Amino acid sequence: MRVLFVCLGNICRSPMAEGVFRRMVADRNLQATFEIDSAGTSAYHLGDLADARMRRTAEQHGITLLHRARRATAADLRDFDLIVAMDRENLAELRRLPGADAHADKIVLMRDYDPTPDDGQVPDPYFGGERGFEEVYQLLRRSCAALLDELSDTTSITPDA
Ligand code: 4NP
Repeated sequence: MRVLFVCLGNICRSPMAEGVFRRMVADRNLQATFEIDSAGTSAYHLGDLADARMRRTAEQHGITLLHRARRATAADLRDFDLIVAMDRENLAELRRLPGADAHADKIVLMRDYDPTPDDGQVPDPYFGGERGFEEVYQLLRRSCAALLDELSDTTSITPDA
């Protein structure tokens, strides 16, 4: 099962989603079953590590973000089983990629999995204060846990030995 998390810059929300989901998969001994990555719809930060504020928040929760920003491509829509957008603008951008129509059912919103989804989007913390990063972590934790529950059921995964 290949899961790609997508935001605008690929330096705040989606690398954190990748890190949170990766840790939950490891905690459940499901590493062999999942491939996990993240990407951005823009090229603003290509090759950059995640934003220092996002990395600091991740470290406070025991997660080290090592991802380098890259841009989402049409090939990603073919290669990944599920593409998880952080907000509706990200979703719209992904749907504009060449050939996206054939893969429309794979592109979903992160907060569709959140038990308390608010407006259904992961807010962009980039231009806000430090607290926004912790809020993003908390809602990604809820959303990723529910996503993993759903994928574990639907794919009938058995844990590694
Ligand atoms: P992200 O946040 O989409 O969660 O990675 C942003 C990062 C950078 C910019 C916007 C959003 N930017 O405009 O540079």
